[in-house]
Amino acid sequence: MAVQRTLSIIKPDATRRNLTGKIVDRLEQGGLRVVAQRRVHLTRAQAEAFYDVHKERPFYDSLCSFMTSGPVVVQVLEGENAIERNREVMGATNPENADAGTIRKDFAESLEANSVHGSDAPETAAREIAFFFAEVDIVG
Ligand code: RTP
Ligand code: MG
Repeated sequence: MAVQRTLSIIKPDATRRNLTGKIVDRLEQGGLRVVAQRRVHLTRAQAEAFYDVHKERPFYDSLCSFMTSGPVVVQVLEGENAIERNREVMGATNPENADAGTIRKDFAESLEANSVHGSDAPETAAREIAFFFAEVDIVG
């Protein structure tokens, strides 16, 4: 498998509880390298645009409110098979279904406040990385 890049977000429930370092440690222990990182408080317009793919879903409004409720840490992660690897380290969307030892099992508060985001495919990773970072900001 080739080296890939994926977009990760440490969500407001995690920054509020000062879990940024613990989550970065899980990512690094999982074989992923942080090659860009920025802390940002998303505007409503940014959250709505980022989650545009979910705009017809019943949870869209609530998700956008949650994602603007506090700062997030946006990151580009790099590694072998990084997109799938990150999703393994994150665990299932609903923490009740997440495997032991995953970020969501250990840290998530709920299905919505589930501590981390990770891109789900190469096309979405490219779009999501470009949403937050210029190529010059990514140092591998
Ligand atoms: P993410 O995009 O954040 O990495 O998570 P995911 O792929 O595992 O989940 P996705 O289906 O893309 O949903 C995006 C985020 O929306 C919230 N959500 N709420 N109330 C609900 O039914 C519901 N379902 C999803 C979660 O914060 C989820 O991560
Ligand atoms: Mg998703």
